[in-house]
This record gives sequence, C-alpha cells and structure tokens, in this order.
Amino acid sequence: MDRYAVLGQPVAHSLSPRIHAQFARQAGAEISYQAIEVAPANLAERLAELHAQGYRGLNLTVPHKAAGAAACVSAGAAALRAGAVNTLVRLEQGWHGENTDGPGLVQDLAGNLGVALAGRRILVLGAGGAARGIVEPLLRQAPAELVVAGRNPWKAEELAAAFKTLGPIRPCTFLALKGDRFDIVLNATSAGHRGEAPRLPAGLLAAGALAYDLNYGRAAAPFLEWAQAQGAQQRSDGLGMLVEQAAEAFALWRGLRPSTAPVLQALRSDAAG
Ligand SMILES: NC(=O)c1ccc[n+]([C@@H]2O[C@H](COP(=O)([O-])OP(=O)(O)OC[C@H]3O[C@@H](n4cnc5c(N)ncnc54)[C@H](OP(=O)(O)O)[C@@H]3O)[C@@H](O)[C@H]2O)c1
Repeated sequence: MDRYAVLGQPVAHSLSPRIHAQFARQAGAEISYQAIEVAPANLAERLAELHAQGYRGLNLTVPHKAAGAAACVSAGAAALRAGAVNTLVRLEQGWHGENTDGPGLVQDLAGNLGVALAGRRILVLGAGGAARGIVEPLLRQAPAELVVAGRNPWKAEELAAAFKTLGPIRPCTFLALKGDRFDIVLNATSAGHRGEAPRLPAGLLAAGALAYDLNYGRAAAPFLEWAQAQGAQQRSDGLGMLVEQAAEAFALWRGLRPSTAPVLQALRSDAAG
C-alpha cells in the first residue's frame, strides 16, 4: 500500500486525510494517508525518516512550508520563487518540493466560482507563506494590478520585490489602501484563527467584488462578516482551495487529477450538518 502523510503542528484538525481517502476511492487505489504532528525542530529528521520508510509523498502545512523547501533536494520553479512547499514527491535521492496552494486557489476562483482574473484589480492581505505561494499563479492570470498589503510593511515590500518581474505587483500598508478599490480581495492572513479580521479602511470593494478568505470554518468568519458589512456581493471561504490544492498534489503523486466537486460537496454538507 502506498503511504502518504501531512506534517504540521497542530495537525489533528486537518481535513487532508479525509480528502485524500475520497480521491483514492475515486481512483480505485489503496493508499494510507496519515496526519503526523511534527515540531519545527524535528522536521528535517522526520522528512529523512519518512523517506527511508518508503513514503511516496507528503503534504506540509503550518508551520513547515518554508523549512520544508530548504530540506528538498529539488523544487519546481514556482516553489523556489515562493520559498515555500506544501507537496513533496518522492525521488530516489530525497524529496522534490512543489507548491500547489496557488494553482489550487486559481482553480477554485476561476473554475469553481467562475471569477475572471484577467484585467481585474486584486488585493492580497497578508505577506506570509500562503501569500508567497499564491502570488505567482495569480500574476500568471494577467490581472490589471496585484497589491500585497501586510501589517508588516517590510514583508509586503520584500514579497512584491521577489515577484516584480512577473507582472504588475505593488506593496502597500493596510492604512495606505484608503481610497483604493478592488474587484477581488483575498484574505491570506491568519488573523481569523484568533477571531479577528485584519484592520482595513472602508470602501475597498468595487461593485460586484469578490471577498475570499483562504481560511475556512470558524477562522473565515471574521473577514467574511467584514465583507458582508462592506456590501460584498460575492463571498467565499477557502474550503474549495483546500480541496483543489489537494487534487493538484494527488495528481503530482499518482498522475491522475481526481474530480473535486463531490469531495467539496461532501465537506460542505458535513460542515452544515
Ligand atoms: N485553504 C487553503 O488551502 C489554505 C492554504 C494555505 C494557507 N491557508 C490559510 O491561510 C492563512 C495564512 O497562512 P500562512 O501559511 O501564510 O501563515 P503565516 O506564514 O503565519 O502568515 C500569516 C500572515 O497573517 C498576518 N497576520 C496575522 N494576524 C494578523 C492580524 N491580526 N492582522 C493582520 N495581519 C495578520 C501575518 O502578519 P505578520 O507577517 O506581520 O506576522 C502574516 O503576514 C492561515 O490561516 C492558513 O490556514 C489556507
């Protein structure tokens, strides 16, 4: 049986084992997929152990995406530029790293939600690992402008500088967003895990704008409530992104992209029930 796992801290809450079990059923494959709690100090050692034990692939979640990139023997170009990996593919000599968060987000926005990205003004809130993973795939969709706003201006500045050759990207502080308007606002901060939304000026949403939180469940509520109060006509959490990034990882491991709609539907009805 081919073995896979997601490594994180905390990781017990992860939906990835359920998602990959459903993908495997669709593919008629017998796999095991575990959630393994790993402290940052032990990551490199655990990655080497799981490779020695014959694991076929791994996912990395908070807080391991950047350190995981450094532990890989090779990585895809977008993962290298992001400096963050969420999917490891087994090579004989070690782990190859990829970042499927960005492709997963773009697939959820453009494919599942039917939102056009070309020519739109996009705002990314936050300048952490998730923001680094989504910026390149977003720029590849040819937006009119992509603004990255963070509470730490230096992090936003560094992020924009790292991607500026790929398209129109500009760093900003939350306060300096005042007076700007966006068609798509993506919350890539972790503020929701503390029951907060980032502190933003009013009036950021253009008519018909989409407000999208990469978080899901309770962590998405504060930002989506802010968006509702600001009159957002479309709002979504990041559950679709989670399922789509998992499908991209499954395809890298097994050469077959599973159908995501039934899996997303099952997760949504569980959450509602
Ligand atoms: N749906 C999915 O598939 C998916 C995939 C990836 C990530 N995510 C979610 O996306 C979120 C971000 O993940 P990450 O890996 O980027 O985490 P991270 O590297 O820890 O970065 C978190 C970012 O949020 C900012 N932040 C935290 N609290 C804030 C507040 N109160 N106001 C404003 N900004 C605040 C941080 O600012 P500082 O830099 O100043 O600390 C940082 O820029 C997480 O909650 C994660 O669960 C979802």
